[in-house]
Amino acid sequence: MKTTISLSTPSQLETEALVAVVLNQADPAQAEKNKDAKPQLKLATEDASVQSAAADLLASGELTGKPFESNLLHKPAGLKAKRLLLISGGPAKKFSSYELRRVAGAAVRTLKGRGIRSFAIIAPAPSGIPADEAVGAIVEGALVGNFDPDYYRSDRKDQKIDTLTILAGGDQKALERAASEAQIVGDSQNFARDLVNEPSNRMTPTILGERAQKMAQEVGLKCEVYGAEKIKELKMGAFWSVAQGSDEPPALIVMKYEPAGAPEKPVLGLVGKGVTFDTGGISIKPADGMEKMKYDMAGGATMIAAMRAIALLKPKVKVIGIVCATENMPSGKAQKPGDVQIAMSGKSIEIINTDAEGRLVLADGLHYAKQLGATHLVDAATLTGAVVVALGYANVGVFANDDAIYERLHKANEEAGEKMWRLPLDDEYKEQIRSNIADIMNTGGRWGGAINAAMFLKEFAEDTPWIHLDIAGTAWMEDQKPWIAKGPSGVALRSVVEFVRGFAS
Ligand code: BES
Ligand code: MN
Ligand code: ZN
Repeated sequence: MKTTISLSTPSQLETEALVAVVLNQADPAQAEKNKDAKPQLKLATEDASVQSAAADLLASGELTGKPFESNLLHKPAGLKAKRLLLISGGPAKKFSSYELRRVAGAAVRTLKGRGIRSFAIIAPAPSGIPADEAVGAIVEGALVGNFDPDYYRSDRKDQKIDTLTILAGGDQKALERAASEAQIVGDSQNFARDLVNEPSNRMTPTILGERAQKMAQEVGLKCEVYGAEKIKELKMGAFWSVAQGSDEPPALIVMKYEPAGAPEKPVLGLVGKGVTFDTGGISIKPADGMEKMKYDMAGGATMIAAMRAIALLKPKVKVIGIVCATENMPSGKAQKPGDVQIAMSGKSIEIINTDAEGRLVLADGLHYAKQLGATHLVDAATLTGAVVVALGYANVGVFANDDAIYERLHKANEEAGEKMWRLPLDDEYKEQIRSNIADIMNTGGRWGGAINAAMFLKEFAEDTPWIHLDIAGTAWMEDQKPWIAKGPSGVALRSVVEFVRGFAS
C-alpha cells in the first residue's frame, strides 16, 4: 500500500471513496445514565461541502454513533469523490489515536471488501490529535487492516488497498515523515503476522532462520543463524532439552543492529520464543485445538520484525535480537518429566512438565543476550495459557524486575496503542518453583501460572533490567474485528519498536 499526504480540500479531491470520521459529541457519562439520550453526531472535518453531503444522514436519527458504524453514500452531492464513507469513531471525548488507528483499519476493510483499491481519508479535525500523530495512526491502522491471512485458499480474493491518500493540514515535511515511519512500523507488524500465519510444516526453525536472514540482508542488519552444534557448544542445556526431541533442527537466530554514532551503552536485548510447533512433548497436549500451536513462535516473529523496523528507522541505540527456534515434540529422543537440565547460566532445572518449554528456550536466550552485552532485556513469548485466564484476549501480560524499565515500556505501549497490563513478581512466588533435586523446576503448580513462568525467567534475567511480555492471549485474534482479520495480530511489535526508540531520544 502506497500512502500520500495531500493538502487538498476534501470536497475537491477526485477519489473512489472519501472517508470522513463521525464523532459523537454527547457526553458518554450522560449517555450512560440516560438511555434515551440522542447521539450528537458531527463530522470531524472543517470542509463545509463534506458536512452538507452528510448532513441529512447525520440528522436522520438512524445512526447510533457507536464505534465503527459505517454508511456509504454514492455520488455525494457537492463532492468530487465517487463515494463518501462515514465511519464512526465513537464519543468525541474518548477519541484518541488508539481509536483512529482502528477506524482507519475498519475503513480499509469495509472498502477493500467492495473491490475498491484506492481511497482518501480526512485526518479528523478538530479532534485533539496532533496532525502528525493522526497521520501515523491512520497509516499504521490502514496497513493492519489491509492484511488478510487466506494465502492458501484457492478462492482467495486478494483484495487489497493499493493507494491511500491522507488529507491533512500542517507541515508537509513533518506529515510525510510521520507517514513513512508509520509505514515501516505497519509493514513490520504485517511481516510478523506473515511469519506467524505459516503452518509449522512451512515454518520450521530452519525456515524461520532463513526468513530472518533474508530480511537482515534487505535492511542491512547482521544476522547469524546457528544450529544444534553451536547450541550444544554454548552449553544451552535448557534450549537443547526442548530441541533434542525433534527431527527438525533448531535454530539460534542472532541479529545485531549497531548504528554508527550510537553510544557503547545501553545495549538492548530483544529475545523471542520461537517454538514453531508446540505439541507439549512427552507431556503431550490434547488434540483439541493443538493446530493452533503453530503460533507458538509469535514472540520470535515479533522480535525478528522489530529488528526490521529498527534497522529502517535507524534510532541511535545498539540492539541485539535473539530468537530461540525449535519444535517441541515427543519422540524417543525427547526429554522426560523428572529429567534435570543445566542451563547456559549454570542453573539446574528439574523438568516437571515438558509442555512448559517456552521458559526453557528463553532461559538460555536471555542469558546469551547478556553474554553478548545486553544491558536491558525484553522478551516476548506465547508463554502460558494462564495469562489468558488472567487477562483474556484484550491485554498483553507484562512483567518487570525493575520499575524504571517498566515505565519506559508502559509509555511505549500507550504511544503504540497496544493494551498491556502489569502482573506481579513478588519474592513469595519464588516458593512455587523451588525444586527438591535442582535449583528450580520448570512449573509452579496450578495457580498463578503466568507469574510462575515469569518467576522462572527472572532467574535468568537476574539483575539486568528486564521486561517479559506474555502474548499467549493476544498474538492470535480468535475472531475478526472491524479493523483486523481473524488470525495473527502482530501484537507487541509496535510497543517494542517504540520502546527501543525511547532510548535514542
Ligand atoms: N505455548 C504454550 C502456551 C500457550 C497456551 C500459548 C495457549 C498460546 C495459547 C506453552 O508452551 C504451554 O504449553 N504452557 C503450559 C504451561 C504449563 C505446562 C505449566 C500451559 O500454559 O498450559
Ligand atoms: Mn508448551
Ligand atoms: Zn509453548
